[in-house]
Amino acid sequence: MDYPRYLNDLDPVYAAVVATLLEHADVRGMDGFRHHDRTALTHSIGVSTRAWALARRLGLDAESVARGALLHDFFLYDWRDGTNPRHPTGHARVALANARARFELNPVEEDIIVSHMWPIGKPFYSYSESALVSLVDKYVSTMEVALLFVRTLRSFGYAVAQRLKARLIASRA
Ligand SMILES: [Fe+2]
Ligand SMILES: [Fe+2]
Repeated sequence: MDYPRYLNDLDPVYAAVVATLLEHADVRGMDGFRHHDRTALTHSIGVSTRAWALARRLGLDAESVARGALLHDFFLYDWRDGTNPRHPTGHARVALANARARFELNPVEEDIIVSHMWPIGKPFYSYSESALVSLVDKYVSTMEVALLFVRTLRSFGYAVAQRLKARLIASRA
Protein backbone atom coordinates (compact mmCIF):
# COMPACT_ATOMS: atom_id res chain seq x y z
CA MET A 1 0.00 0.00 0.00
CA ASP A 2 1.05 3.62 -0.04
CA TYR A 3 2.08 3.91 3.60
CA PRO A 4 5.35 5.84 3.13
CA ARG A 5 3.31 8.76 1.80
CA TYR A 6 0.85 8.19 4.63
CA LEU A 7 3.69 8.31 7.19
CA ASN A 8 5.04 11.53 5.70
CA ASP A 9 1.61 13.10 6.12
CA LEU A 10 1.39 12.37 9.84
CA ASP A 11 0.95 15.20 12.33
CA PRO A 12 4.45 15.67 13.82
CA VAL A 13 3.09 15.63 17.39
CA TYR A 14 1.31 12.33 16.71
CA ALA A 15 4.36 10.93 14.89
CA ALA A 16 6.53 11.66 17.96
CA VAL A 17 4.10 9.82 20.25
CA VAL A 18 4.17 6.64 18.14
CA ALA A 19 7.76 6.93 16.83
CA THR A 20 9.16 3.97 18.81
CA LEU A 21 6.32 1.76 17.58
CA LEU A 22 6.50 2.84 13.94
CA GLU A 23 10.26 2.27 13.89
CA HIS A 24 9.78 -1.41 14.76
CA ALA A 25 10.12 -3.80 11.82
CA ASP A 26 7.13 -5.90 12.93
CA VAL A 27 4.85 -2.84 13.10
CA ARG A 28 5.96 -1.84 9.59
CA GLY A 29 5.53 -5.49 8.63
CA MET A 30 1.78 -5.06 9.15
CA ASP A 31 1.88 -3.38 5.75
CA GLY A 32 2.28 -6.87 4.28
CA PHE A 33 -1.15 -8.03 5.51
CA ARG A 34 -4.22 -7.00 3.57
CA HIS A 35 -7.02 -5.65 5.73
CA HIS A 36 -10.37 -4.57 4.25
CA ASP A 37 -9.46 -2.30 1.31
CA ARG A 38 -5.94 -1.54 2.60
CA THR A 39 -3.27 -3.07 4.86
CA ALA A 40 -3.27 -3.79 8.58
CA LEU A 41 -0.76 -0.94 9.01
CA THR A 42 -2.68 1.73 7.10
CA HIS A 43 -5.92 0.63 8.80
CA SER A 44 -4.26 0.88 12.22
CA ILE A 45 -2.75 4.29 11.44
CA GLY A 46 -6.20 5.45 10.30
CA VAL A 47 -7.78 4.32 13.57
CA SER A 48 -4.92 5.62 15.69
CA THR A 49 -4.72 9.12 14.18
CA ARG A 50 -8.50 9.66 14.36
CA ALA A 51 -8.80 8.30 17.91
CA TRP A 52 -5.78 10.35 19.04
CA ALA A 53 -7.32 13.59 17.70
CA LEU A 54 -10.65 12.81 19.38
CA ALA A 55 -8.98 11.86 22.67
CA ARG A 56 -7.18 15.22 22.75
CA ARG A 57 -10.48 17.04 22.25
CA LEU A 58 -12.18 14.95 24.94
CA GLY A 59 -9.36 15.40 27.48
CA LEU A 60 -8.54 11.66 27.53
CA ASP A 61 -5.11 10.00 27.64
CA ALA A 62 -4.31 10.72 23.98
CA GLU A 63 -0.83 9.20 24.04
CA SER A 64 -2.09 5.83 25.26
CA VAL A 65 -4.93 6.06 22.74
CA ALA A 66 -2.47 6.67 19.88
CA ARG A 67 -0.17 3.80 20.92
CA GLY A 68 -2.87 1.31 21.87
CA ALA A 69 -4.84 2.00 18.68
CA LEU A 70 -1.75 1.57 16.51
CA LEU A 71 -1.29 -1.92 17.99
CA HIS A 72 -4.96 -2.93 18.24
CA ASP A 73 -4.71 -5.24 15.19
CA PHE A 74 -1.08 -6.31 15.75
CA PHE A 75 -1.96 -9.98 15.19
CA LEU A 76 0.65 -10.44 12.42
CA TYR A 77 -1.00 -12.99 10.14
CA ASP A 78 -3.24 -12.89 7.08
CA TRP A 79 -6.68 -13.45 8.59
CA ARG A 80 -8.11 -14.38 5.19
CA ASP A 81 -6.06 -17.60 4.92
CA GLY A 82 -7.70 -19.21 7.96
CA THR A 83 -4.52 -19.11 10.11
CA ASN A 84 -6.68 -18.38 13.13
CA PRO A 85 -10.16 -19.94 12.88
CA ARG A 86 -11.18 -17.84 15.89
CA HIS A 87 -9.94 -14.62 14.34
CA PRO A 88 -13.04 -12.46 15.00
CA THR A 89 -13.12 -13.20 18.73
CA GLY A 90 -9.46 -14.11 19.29
CA HIS A 91 -7.26 -11.70 17.38
CA ALA A 92 -7.30 -9.00 20.06
CA ARG A 93 -5.61 -11.38 22.52
CA VAL A 94 -3.05 -12.38 19.86
CA ALA A 95 -2.37 -8.69 19.20
CA LEU A 96 -1.90 -8.06 22.93
CA ALA A 97 0.54 -10.96 23.29
CA ASN A 98 2.53 -9.75 20.26
CA ALA A 99 2.58 -6.18 21.57
CA ARG A 100 3.61 -7.24 25.10
CA ALA A 101 6.47 -9.32 23.66
CA ARG A 102 7.90 -6.30 21.88
CA PHE A 103 6.92 -3.17 23.81
CA GLU A 104 6.35 -1.94 27.33
CA LEU A 105 2.67 -1.12 27.57
CA ASN A 106 0.69 0.66 30.25
CA PRO A 107 -2.67 -0.72 31.51
CA VAL A 108 -4.69 1.65 29.29
CA GLU A 109 -2.81 0.60 26.16
CA GLU A 110 -3.24 -3.08 27.03
CA ASP A 111 -6.96 -2.65 27.62
CA ILE A 112 -7.39 -0.72 24.34
CA ILE A 113 -5.88 -3.66 22.44
CA VAL A 114 -7.61 -6.54 24.23
CA SER A 115 -11.10 -5.02 24.39
CA HIS A 116 -11.32 -3.39 20.96
CA MET A 117 -13.55 -6.12 19.51
CA TRP A 118 -16.25 -5.84 22.17
CA PRO A 119 -19.10 -6.96 21.90
CA ILE A 120 -17.90 -9.71 19.50
CA GLY A 121 -14.90 -10.37 21.73
CA LYS A 122 -14.44 -10.00 25.47
CA PRO A 123 -13.62 -8.27 27.83
CA PHE A 124 -15.66 -5.11 28.16
CA TYR A 125 -13.72 -1.81 28.24
CA SER A 126 -12.04 -0.85 31.51
CA TYR A 127 -11.28 2.71 30.34
CA SER A 128 -13.04 5.43 28.33
CA GLU A 129 -9.97 5.40 26.06
CA SER A 130 -10.72 1.76 25.13
CA ALA A 131 -14.35 2.55 24.30
CA LEU A 132 -13.20 5.44 22.11
CA VAL A 133 -10.71 3.35 20.12
CA SER A 134 -13.26 0.54 19.71
CA LEU A 135 -15.86 2.97 18.35
CA VAL A 136 -13.36 4.61 15.97
CA ASP A 137 -12.21 1.17 14.80
CA LYS A 138 -15.80 0.21 14.00
CA TYR A 139 -16.36 3.47 12.12
CA VAL A 140 -13.09 3.20 10.14
CA SER A 141 -13.68 -0.49 9.38
CA THR A 142 -17.21 0.21 8.12
CA MET A 143 -15.89 2.96 5.82
CA GLU A 144 -13.12 0.69 4.51
CA VAL A 145 -15.50 -2.20 3.81
CA ALA A 146 -17.97 0.19 2.14
CA LEU A 147 -15.18 1.55 -0.09
CA LEU A 148 -14.18 -2.00 -0.99
CA PHE A 149 -17.79 -2.78 -1.87
CA VAL A 150 -18.11 0.34 -4.06
CA ARG A 151 -14.85 -0.47 -5.88
CA THR A 152 -15.97 -4.08 -6.46
CA LEU A 153 -19.34 -2.88 -7.72
CA ARG A 154 -17.64 -0.38 -10.04
CA SER A 155 -15.36 -3.07 -11.54
CA PHE A 156 -18.34 -5.36 -11.97
CA GLY A 157 -20.34 -2.59 -13.68
CA TYR A 158 -17.41 -1.81 -15.97
CA ALA A 159 -17.00 -5.49 -16.93
CA VAL A 160 -20.73 -5.80 -17.71
CA ALA A 161 -20.70 -2.57 -19.77
CA GLN A 162 -17.70 -3.80 -21.78
CA ARG A 163 -19.44 -7.10 -22.59
CA LEU A 164 -22.68 -5.38 -23.59
CA LYS A 165 -20.75 -2.96 -25.78
CA ALA A 166 -18.88 -5.83 -27.46
CA ARG A 167 -22.16 -7.65 -28.08
CA LEU A 168 -23.73 -4.50 -29.58
CA ILE A 169 -20.75 -3.97 -31.89
CA ALA A 170 -20.88 -7.65 -32.94
CA SER A 171 -24.62 -7.46 -33.68
CA ARG A 172 -24.10 -4.41 -35.94
CA ALA A 173 -21.30 -6.05 -37.92
FE1 LIG B 1 -9.50 -5.87 15.23
FE1 LIG C 1 -9.18 -2.71 13.46
